[in-house]
This record gives sequence, structure tokens and C-alpha cells, in this order.
Amino acid sequence: MWFSILFAAFGAIATVAAEQDYHQPTSKGFRMQHGFEAVLVQPFGYDGFRVRAWPFRPPTGQEIGFVYDPPLEGPEGEAHGMSFDTAFLGNRTEELRNGNMIVRTSGWGGNPGGYRLAFYRVEGNGSETLLTNEYAPLKSINPRYYSWKGPGSEFTAEFSFSTTPDEQIYGTGTQQDHIVNKKGMTIDLINYNTHIPTPVFMSNKGYGFVWNMASTGRMEFGQLRNRFTSDAATVVDYVIVAATPGDYDTLQQRLSALTGRAPTPPNWSLGYIQSKLRYENQSEVIQLAEQFHERNIPVSMIVIDYQSWAHQGDWGLDPRLWPDVAKMSEKVKQLTNAEMMASLWPSVADDSLNYLEMMARGFLSATRSGPGTTDSWNGSYIRNYDSTNPGARKFLWNTLKRNYFDKGIKNFWIDQADGGSLGEAYENNGQSDYIQSVPFPMPDALYAAGTQSSVGKLYPWAHQQAIEEGYRNESSTKTGTPCEYLSLSRSGYIGSQRFCSIIWSGDTTAVWETLGAQIASGLSAAATGWGWWTLDAGGFQADPTVPWSANIDTPQYRELYVRWFQWTTFLPFMRTHGSRACDVQHGYTCDNEPWSYGEKNTPILLSYIHLRYQLAEYVQALFSQLQRTGRMIMRPLYMDFETSDARVAEWTRQNNNVTTQQYMFGPRLLISPVTVPNVTEWSVYLPQTQTAGNQTKPWTYWWTNQTYAGGQMVKVPAPVEHIPMFHLGSRADIMNGDVF
Ligand SMILES: *[C@@H]1O[C@H](CO)[C@@H](O)[C@H](O)[C@H]1NC(C)=O
Ligand SMILES: *[C@@H]1O[C@H](CO)[C@@H](O)[C@H](O)[C@H]1NC(C)=O
Ligand SMILES: *[C@@H]1O[C@H](CO)[C@@H](O)[C@H](O)[C@H]1NC(C)=O
Ligand SMILES: *[C@@H]1O[C@H](CO)[C@@H](O)[C@H](O)[C@H]1NC(C)=O
Ligand SMILES: *[C@@H]1O[C@H](CO)[C@@H](O)[C@H](O)[C@H]1NC(C)=O
Ligand SMILES: *[C@@H]1O[C@H](CO)[C@@H](O)[C@H](O)[C@H]1NC(C)=O
Ligand SMILES: *[C@@H]1O[C@H](CO)[C@@H](O)[C@H](O)[C@H]1NC(C)=O
Ligand SMILES: *[C@@H]1O[C@H](CO)[C@@H](O)[C@H](O)[C@H]1NC(C)=O
Ligand SMILES: *[C@@H]1O[C@H](CO)[C@@H](O)[C@H](O)[C@H]1NC(C)=O
Ligand SMILES: *[C@@H]1O[C@H](CO)[C@@H](O)[C@H](O)[C@H]1NC(C)=O
Repeated sequence: MWFSILFAAFGAIATVAAEQDYHQPTSKGFRMQHGFEAVLVQPFGYDGFRVRAWPFRPPTGQEIGFVYDPPLEGPEGEAHGMSFDTAFLGNRTEELRNGNMIVRTSGWGGNPGGYRLAFYRVEGNGSETLLTNEYAPLKSINPRYYSWKGPGSEFTAEFSFSTTPDEQIYGTGTQQDHIVNKKGMTIDLINYNTHIPTPVFMSNKGYGFVWNMASTGRMEFGQLRNRFTSDAATVVDYVIVAATPGDYDTLQQRLSALTGRAPTPPNWSLGYIQSKLRYENQSEVIQLAEQFHERNIPVSMIVIDYQSWAHQGDWGLDPRLWPDVAKMSEKVKQLTNAEMMASLWPSVADDSLNYLEMMARGFLSATRSGPGTTDSWNGSYIRNYDSTNPGARKFLWNTLKRNYFDKGIKNFWIDQADGGSLGEAYENNGQSDYIQSVPFPMPDALYAAGTQSSVGKLYPWAHQQAIEEGYRNESSTKTGTPCEYLSLSRSGYIGSQRFCSIIWSGDTTAVWETLGAQIASGLSAAATGWGWWTLDAGGFQADPTVPWSANIDTPQYRELYVRWFQWTTFLPFMRTHGSRACDVQHGYTCDNEPWSYGEKNTPILLSYIHLRYQLAEYVQALFSQLQRTGRMIMRPLYMDFETSDARVAEWTRQNNNVTTQQYMFGPRLLISPVTVPNVTEWSVYLPQTQTAGNQTKPWTYWWTNQTYAGGQMVKVPAPVEHIPMFHLGSRADIMNGDVF
């Protein structure tokens, strides 16, 4: 503890010194006119630049975006707006420096004049390293390429940047691909259930990039060119920031200063969250709380899933099944001290209590051909509420407040939040029995803020914002300050971490392969800046081709469940959820409690719930670090070991499973979830730690206390009750919340 105070004080002094030495921006920015297009470049935050480009019509500066102006940290005190102090034509070389970063215009083929932007980092010895430049091989299309595909003034933009075959790309939101290094990938910027593509990445060359656009489109990470496409835009907007290669904590600090710092979650939320598809009525929930009480099992939140309403879009519990909501939440609190959360869908069916009023007030999304439905689900045609309309957000919140919040259910699960449709437009209107994988794009939804093409990526973010605004209004607090309550969202976007909102990995299947894929997904979420991340322990739903999948009475699924569940102890939030089958009952609403997996497994599951509470100080300390500096909680190995261990760097490049399946939970715990059945021992790679005076820190296996040197693959016993995990430093330091 004494040491950590010393380091903390030392850190503060170092920051002040660095700010005094900071190379102040050499200008407020420049505006380059290049034929019919203009490019505005401004120094932005520490060591960064913001670029906006447009053909013909200048933007207003009020376009939808996700970066703070001014950033939360930086040399400048005030907003930049559209300001600049130098204007010129694209036939001359211009240069601008901010901190350790330089932007310079250049031409092609040795031409001294230039319309292309190139970004450099200034090294400690004064030399410059090219990070990336706008990519345009001789006599090819312009790196800033515009085309007009519709009848209006919106254009499609394709911007290309140079890369090298050895560059590594981390982040890009979440996919289900076992991949941490996204080099070589093409990723559509369209949201689906379990896919939240987001154009934020960190490069191993020591820079971070934010494509600050609300539109759908595409990201391509090729051998020589990275390309970002926006389907419909009126201005192109991106930000690039630099740091020393390998210093990912500084990159995350810089990026989160632009896009948002995660607030600290309420301490109660860091325990165990109980959920399943689904607790069907008030008496079932009270009985559940009684079970936790009688068994003396800690639980921090109990969750009510969908279909608990009379009609989609009522945003209230069906009174026939939930006659006294206030009494229920009070009883749950009294028995367990747990908070409650309820699911809401964005969909409003035409028999909903709210449909007519919302339609009359313009609060429902429409389609480009009229006010039609945007999807259907289980026999009801629906239109989604329009999260981009501030009035609709307020209407939603007021309804939730009246029906839930004021009755003691204060946390909201914003399910199906992907936007466009219910997020599953690849199915036949949400019903997959006849046609799977419909071969046309998301419905042609229209919102107050624009079309699905131009602002579709805003939808889930604005939906998170609705709950955030509601909470903040309720408590008279501001975004960024500690959260009292939270939401859980199936989607998100650039800077979603600024809200009191957890992102989870969506409706996963209950098989081993999917368990493995979640690890890389969580590591990409972290690199994107989302520190509040979780998943459904056990997977959400059965894989129809696997007979035992999600069946709690089979030994195969029980084993998978125990492995998956033990892993969730080492996620930012520990949560179970899913649709379960069993032998005694038809359907998929069987039990999913810690005691539902057989006598032999119950004590194992409970031991992890207890371990989670024992780790409370450590987890809280990780969240407060995340709040202060953006330092990530789930840490891909490259974040801590890229510079100390050449194998980690190389294996990350290859997406070797050591780097897609092992990670650090904070600075002290190395976690390697078991991802295959029938395991009794497990191979784990222990990275070489930083050397200090030629001493490397040893790793201790949690379950035996045996110590190992870093830089080797070791085989350890891993019976089903033990998740493979190692620690650095003493166990007492961890239990005391020492995260230095
Ligand atoms: C750029 O073009 C303008 C307009 O033709 C001209 O006045 C200026 O001298 C040119 N600058 C350079 C560096 O060639
Ligand atoms: C300056 O520093 C950079 C980065 O550390 C290094 O790559 C380069 O070789 C150095 N140049 C000289 C001349 O020392
Ligand atoms: C949460 O726990 C931490 C560490 O024990 C403590 O410092 C903090 O004050 C707590 N926060 C609240 C809101 O109780
Ligand atoms: C509540 O749900 C449970 C589980 O489906 C069911 O057994 C019970 O009959 C229901 N009770 C009421 C009052 O609806
Ligand atoms: C569909 O709705 C009916 C009631 O209309 C309900 O009984 C059924 O459980 C629903 N199906 C699903 C999959 O939710
Ligand atoms: C929060 O309060 C502001 C200011 O009164 C209001 O404009 C906004 O609509 C409120 N938001 C919600 C979701 O209630
Ligand atoms: C990585 O893959 C190898 C070969 O398939 C396997 O033996 C090993 O257990 C895997 N390691 C992890 C951490 O998943
Ligand atoms: C697990 O091991 C048992 C006994 O060795 C074997 O019968 C079973 O087929 C194995 N299961 C899998 C999924 O490999
Ligand atoms: C570390 O080891 C190297 C090579 O073995 C040696 O030259 C150096 O003096 C050592 N440094 C310290 C601080 O012990
Ligand atoms: C390992 O050490 C911890 C204390 O650091 C102790 O509580 C635990 O019982 C030890 N485990 C074994 C297997 O010796």
C-alpha cells in the first residue's frame, strides 16, 4: 500500500512535468482547398489531429459525431468548432505540429506541392516516423473519394490510408471471429445481434484512429491500404492520435479523452447478476429471492426478461402477471439486498398502449417510403421508437420511470438495441422457421436524424443515451460522474463507454466453439474502449445441431456451463443468462440458477460467486483506474507484454490462440479459460514480464501457489473446479485492491 501511494504521487508529478514540456500546437489549424473539396485539419487533444473533409457545401460544424470538442484532456481549453488560421490551395506543402505529432501535406511522384495528408510521430531524438498517410498510388483514385448515389446532397465517401504488411490493428468493435489482430479483415459497419462493428482502432505502430461517422459502411484492413467507407454523409470526420509504440495505456488515455471515460459503476453491480429466459411472474421472482436468501448466496441483481409486458412497447410489466411491482422489488431487496433490472425492447406494436400517442407525436421510426412498419416479431407488426429523437427518448424514459423506476426496478436492459429492425433482419421478419439469411440489407428505416444509411450507427448509442439522460436527470448528476444505476445493451458505438451502460456479447450459442470466440470478442471490445463488457454465462441459446446444447440435465452441458461460468468471475461484470432446456419440461425456460447444474457442480459455481466478492477491492480499483486514465480492465496480452516478450508480439500478429484466448484481468491476474471439454490439465503461456534490474517477476499458479518464470509454456492441473489463472505479486496485494 505504501508503495502504491508513492507511485501515485510520482505519477501525478510526472504528468505535470510532461504538460509543461508539451510541444504546443503550432497553429489553430489549416484549411486546404483542393478543387471542389476542402479539408480542415486541427490540432486536437494531446498528440492528435482532427480532420474534416467535404466536397462543395461546407458543413455547419453541428453534424452528428462522437468525439468531445474540446477533448477531455489536451493543451487547449476551448472548443475548436470549425476554426483555423491558415488557408491555402492543395498545391503547397504545409505542416502543423501538436505535441509529438506532425501532419504534413505532400504530393505524389516527388511533386513538391501536395494535397495528401501524412501523419508522423516525433521521436525522443527528434527523428520522425511515418504513421500513415492518405494512400494514393500514382494515377489511381484520390485517397479521399466521393460519389453520389442518391438524389440528394449526401455522398458516399471512401477514404484510404497507407499501411504496411506488418502493421497490427486492434479494436474495431466486436465480431465473433477469434481474432484480436484485425489485419486482413473486411468488416461491414452494420449492426447485428452479436456483431457491433465500430471504427475505432489502435495500431502497433503507436497510433489510434477514430472514424467519427454515424453512417453505415465498411472497414477494410488490407496489405497496403486501410479503407473506410461511409454509405451516406455530408462531411467526413476522423481523428488520429499518437503514442510510443507498445504504450497502449497512453493510447487508451488519448482515445478515451476524445470519445469518453467510463464512469465508475455502483459497487453493488460488481457482484453476481442472476438472469435467465425467463422469470415469468411476480411470485416466481419472489421465490427466487427466497432461494438465494435461504441458501445464503450473495446476489447483486435479479433480472426480468422479455415478454413480461402485455404488448411490445408498453414499457411496463403486464399487471396480470405482476400485480404489485413495488412490493416485489421491496421484498427482493429485503431478502437479498439485490437490485432489479427489467428488459425493454425498442419495438412498439400497434396494439401497444403507447402506439397511437407515439405515432401522433412523431416518436416512431418510419421507412423511406412512408410511415410503415420496420419489422414484425411473433405475429405483431412493429415500429421501433426513434432513439435519435430527443422527444422520443424523453417519452421512453418517462414511461420507464412511471412503470418501473418509481416502483423500485431501477436498472434497464436495452435488448434488441441494434437499430434498423430488431437487429435480426437476416431472418424472415424475426421468424426463422422458413427463410434464414434474407439476402437484402437492413430495412430502409428513417429516423429524425436521417436515414439508416446516414445515421444507422447512432441508433444504439442514442438508445443508451436515453437511459443515461433519464438517470442523470433523476439524480441531478452529470455524465462521467459515478453511476447509481446502469443499463445493459446489446449494441453500442464510438464512446458508448461514457454512459452507465454495459455492453454484452449478444445472443450466443451454448457450445464450446462459441465460448472460445467470446474471449477475442471481449479483447476487441477493450481495445475499442469499452471497459464495461460482459456476456451470457453458458451461452444464450441451444445450437439445434447439438443435442445436449443448453440442456441443464446433460453432463456435457453441465461441464460447458461450469467452465463458462467460472470464467465470468474475471469479466468486468459477472452475469449469467440464457434459454435453457431440461428433461422434465418442454420448451426453453428451464432453470438457470447456481444450484441448477447438479449436486456436484453447485459448490463449484458457488465458490466462484464467493471469489468474485472476495475480489471486490481489486475489481473496484480496476474500475476507478479505468475512470481516471482509461486503463483497460480486460487486457489483451499485447497491452502489457508486447515490448517485453517478442513471442507475444509475434503470436498476436498471427492470432495464435495464446493471444486470442489468454488475457490479463487487471495488471495482476492472467486468465486462460478452458475452451474444450474433458480437460484435466491445461497449457498456458506465461509472458516474460518487464525486466527491472534484470529481475523478472515470477508467476504464481492460483490453485497450487507454485511459481514459474515468465517466457515459457507450462502445463498445469485444471480439473473442472479450477480455471487456469496465475498472479503477479502476492495474493494479499490483489485482495487489498493494489492495482499498481
Ligand atoms: C498554387 O496555385 C495558386 C493558384 O494558381 C498559385 O497562385 C500559387 O503560386 C501556387 N502555389 C505553388 C506553391 O505552386
Ligand atoms: C531515433 O529514435 C527512433 C525511435 O526510438 C529510432 O528508431 C531511431 O533509430 C533513432 N535515430 C537515431 C538517429 O538515433
Ligand atoms: C466502492 O468501494 C470502494 C473500495 O472499497 C470505495 O472506495 C468506494 O467509496 C465505494 N463506492 C461507493 C459508492 O460506495
Ligand atoms: C408463475 O410462473 C411459474 C413458472 O412458470 C408458474 O409455475 C406459476 O404457476 C406462475 N404463477 C402465477 C401466479 O402465474
Ligand atoms: C408468441 O406470442 C404468444 C402469445 O401470442 C406466446 O404464447 C408465445 O410464447 C410467443 N412466442 C415466443 C417465441 O415468444
Ligand atoms: C433530461 O432533462 C433535459 C433537461 O430538462 C431534457 O431536455 C431531456 O429531455 C431529459 N431527458 C430524458 C431522457 O428525460
Ligand atoms: C491452442 O491450440 C492448441 C492446438 O489446437 C491447443 O492444444 C491448446 O490447448 C490451445 N490453447 C488455448 C489456450 O486454447
Ligand atoms: C470425455 O471423456 C470420456 C471418458 O474419457 C469420453 O467417454 C467422452 O467421449 C469424452 N467426451 C468428449 C466430448 O470428448
Ligand atoms: C543486466 O544483465 C546484463 C547482461 O547480463 C549486464 O550487462 C547488466 O549489467 C545487468 N544490469 C543490472 C542492472 O544488473
Ligand atoms: C496459497 O497461498 C494462499 C495465501 O497466499 C493460501 O491462502 C492458500 O491456501 C495457498 N494454497 C495452497 C494450495 O497452498
